[in-house]
Amino acid sequence: MSDTRRILITSALPYANGSIHLGHLVEYIQTDIWSRFQKMRGHECYYVCADDAHGTPIMLRARAEGIEPEELIARVWTEHTEDFAGFAIGFDNYHSTHSEENRVCATTIYERNRDAGHIARRTISQAYDPEAQMFLPDRFIKGTCPKCGAQDQYGDSCEVCGATYAPTDLINPVSAVSGATPVERDSEHLFFRLGDFGQVLKDWHRAGHVQAEVANKLNEWFEAGLNDWDISRDAPYFGFEIPDAPGKYFYVWLDAPIGYMASFRHFCNRTGVDFDAFWNAGATTELYHFIGKDIIYFHALFWPAMLHGAGYRKPSGVFAHGFLTVDGAKMSKSRGTFIKARTYLKHLNPEYLRYYFAAKLSSRVDDLDLNLDDFAARVNADLVGKVVNIASRCAGFIGKRFDGHLSSSLDQPGLFDTFVRAGDEIAKLYEQREFGRAVREIMALADLANQYIDDKAPWVVAKQQDRDAELHAICSMGINLFRVLVGYLKPVLPLMAEQAEAFLNVAPMTWDTQHEPLLDHAIARFKPLMTRVEKDRITAMIEDSKEDLAGEARATAGATQSGNSPLARDPIAATVEYADFAKVDLRVVRIAKAEHVDGADKLLRLTLDLGGATRHVFAGIKSAYKPEDLEGRLTVMVANLAPRTMKFGVSEGMVLAAGPGGTDLFVLQPDAGAEPGMRIK
Ligand code: MSP
Ligand code: ZN
Repeated sequence: MSDTRRILITSALPYANGSIHLGHLVEYIQTDIWSRFQKMRGHECYYVCADDAHGTPIMLRARAEGIEPEELIARVWTEHTEDFAGFAIGFDNYHSTHSEENRVCATTIYERNRDAGHIARRTISQAYDPEAQMFLPDRFIKGTCPKCGAQDQYGDSCEVCGATYAPTDLINPVSAVSGATPVERDSEHLFFRLGDFGQVLKDWHRAGHVQAEVANKLNEWFEAGLNDWDISRDAPYFGFEIPDAPGKYFYVWLDAPIGYMASFRHFCNRTGVDFDAFWNAGATTELYHFIGKDIIYFHALFWPAMLHGAGYRKPSGVFAHGFLTVDGAKMSKSRGTFIKARTYLKHLNPEYLRYYFAAKLSSRVDDLDLNLDDFAARVNADLVGKVVNIASRCAGFIGKRFDGHLSSSLDQPGLFDTFVRAGDEIAKLYEQREFGRAVREIMALADLANQYIDDKAPWVVAKQQDRDAELHAICSMGINLFRVLVGYLKPVLPLMAEQAEAFLNVAPMTWDTQHEPLLDHAIARFKPLMTRVEKDRITAMIEDSKEDLAGEARATAGATQSGNSPLARDPIAATVEYADFAKVDLRVVRIAKAEHVDGADKLLRLTLDLGGATRHVFAGIKSAYKPEDLEGRLTVMVANLAPRTMKFGVSEGMVLAAGPGGTDLFVLQPDAGAEPGMRIK
C-alpha cells in the first residue's frame, strides 16, 4: 500500500427543521461509501457532519410550535442522528452549528477577515414586517411579479417568467409571516468582500479542486462579477450575535460551512487528533466536501475565500452531486414519492438503497433516478441472486460434509488471482467516485464466480461417491470468491459485510486482507445474509409516505424553504392555465359526520353531504379540530379529485384548509346562504 493519507471528509449539513429524506441520502450514502473505502485502504480518515441549526425558517418554525429554537434543534438532532444510524452512515462526529465550538470558529474567521480588510459595512434598505417586527428574507415576501404579472411569487424570483428581482420590486407585496404589507427600513449590514479573492479563487479552481462541469459554471459567475456578500442579519434572528455589532447576527450561511470545522474541533477535543494539521494554511492533509449542486456557490466561492482570508487552508476538493428523482419525477408528497428516511426504514433494508445509489452514482453532477421497479429488480438480481447466492450454494456442503472447515488448497488459484487483481481497478474507481462502474466490475466478478459453480455443479458431485475432496475444493473455492466480493462491496454494504465476517469467522476486512485465500479455516454456520425486496413493502412505503402528507405539508410550507439562493429554485410555485383550473370541481358541502381514525395521528374521517351525494374523505386537521365541532358545518371540497387509497381507506376528495399547521389550521367556510352541492366558480 502507498503512503498513508490523512483525510477529512464532510457532507453538507442538513437543516435542523426538516426530516432526512431519500434525496438527502444520496449525499450521505455517497460520502459514507467514500469514507469507508478510504478507511478500508488504511488511511487516516475522518468523516464529520452536523445539523445546520440557524436562520429565520428555524426561528419561525420553533415559534409556530410554541417552543424555543434550542428545543426544536435538539429534537431534530436526535431524529437526524437516528435516521443516519439507520442507514449505517458512519460519521466520526455529528455536531451542531449552534455550538460553542462553532461560535469560536466563526468569530475567528470573521475577525481575521475583518482585520485583513475583507469586511465592509454599509446601510441598506430592506423589507420590514411592521407587524412581526422583523426584516423579511426574500423568501418570506410574496407578491405579483413586476415583469409578467404572475401572482403569488417569491421575493427574489418569478417561477413563471424566470425574472429575478429585489423584493422591493414586487407589486402588492405581503409578508408570509404575518400577512402585513412590508415597509422599507434602513439598517447597517456587514459584507464579505468576495471580490478581494478573484485571483485566489481562479487559481484554486484551475488547480483542479472542482469538477469540470462546476468549473464551467464558476466561469459564468466570474464573468458576472463577484459581488460583496451580505453576512449579517438583524434581530430577531436565531444565530450568533456578531461580536462587534450588537443586535446583528451572522447570516446562517456564514457559520454553516464553518460548522465543518467546528464539528472536527469537537471531535479533536474528544480524541486528541491534531486540528491544526487539517486546517492551517499549508496543511498537507486532505479536505473534501461532498455537496449537492444547489450549494456550489457557497462551497466553491464563499467558503474557500473565507478560509483563505482567515489564513486557513482551502479544500482539496469539492464534490457536487445531482438531485434525486423518483420514477423520473421530482419527489412528490401527493404521489408518495417524497420518502423520509424513517418511513423507508420502517419497510425496507437500508442496504438495498445504499446498493442502488452506489450502482447509479458517478463522479459527475448528474441527477439520479430512483426507479422503484428497477430498484427491486436490481437488488434482487445482483445482491440476492448473485452475491449471496454464491455463499448459500457452497456453505451448506462445507457445514454438513466438512464440519465447517475449508480445504487447505484452492481448486483454481488462477481464478482467485483474477479476483484479487481486479481489486486495483475497483479501488481506482472507488477513489474516483465512479461507484457505478466499481459495482459493475464487482458484479462481473460475481458472474464469474457463479459460472464457476455452475460448471462444477457441486450438487452433482455431492451425490457421487469418492468425490469428497473435489466437493470440498469446489465449495471452499466458492466461499473464497464470495469473501473477496464481500470485501469489495464492504464500503457500500457495511452491515452485510459484518454478518459475512461473522459467518467467515474473520476479523473485519480491509482492502488488503483479501489478497490471501482462507485455507484450512473454520467458518461458522451460514445464515441468509439478505432477503429479496418484496414489492408489497415498496407499495406500503409509498402509501405511508402519502399519509405523512396530511397536515405535514401545510405545517411546513414556507418554513422549509431552504433559502439556498442564488441558485435554488423553489419547487412548489408553478402556475396553471385557466383551462386546467376550470377542471377542478370545487363544491360547497356539509360535514355530516367527523370521526377519529384508529391509529392515525393527524387524520379525521369526514362524511360530506354534497346536497344529495355523499363522499368520504380523510383530512389532516385533527390537530386543530374536535370532530364534534365540525359536524353540521359547511365547507369547501375538491369534488372531482381522483379517489386515493390511503393507509386507512379510500379518500374521495379533499377539503380545503389554510394555515401553518398544528392548532393553526382553518377549514374554509362559505358565507351564509350557500347550500351543499353549489359549485364554486
Ligand atoms: N444547510 C444547507 C447546507 C449547509 S452546508 C454548510 C442545506 N441543507 S439541506 O438540508 O437543504 O440539504 C443538505 C444536502 O442535501 C445538500 O447538499 C443538498 O444539496 C442535498 N439534497 C437535498 N435534497 C436533495 C435531493 N432531492 N437530491 C439530492 N441531494 C439533495 O442545503
Ligand atoms: Zn414573472
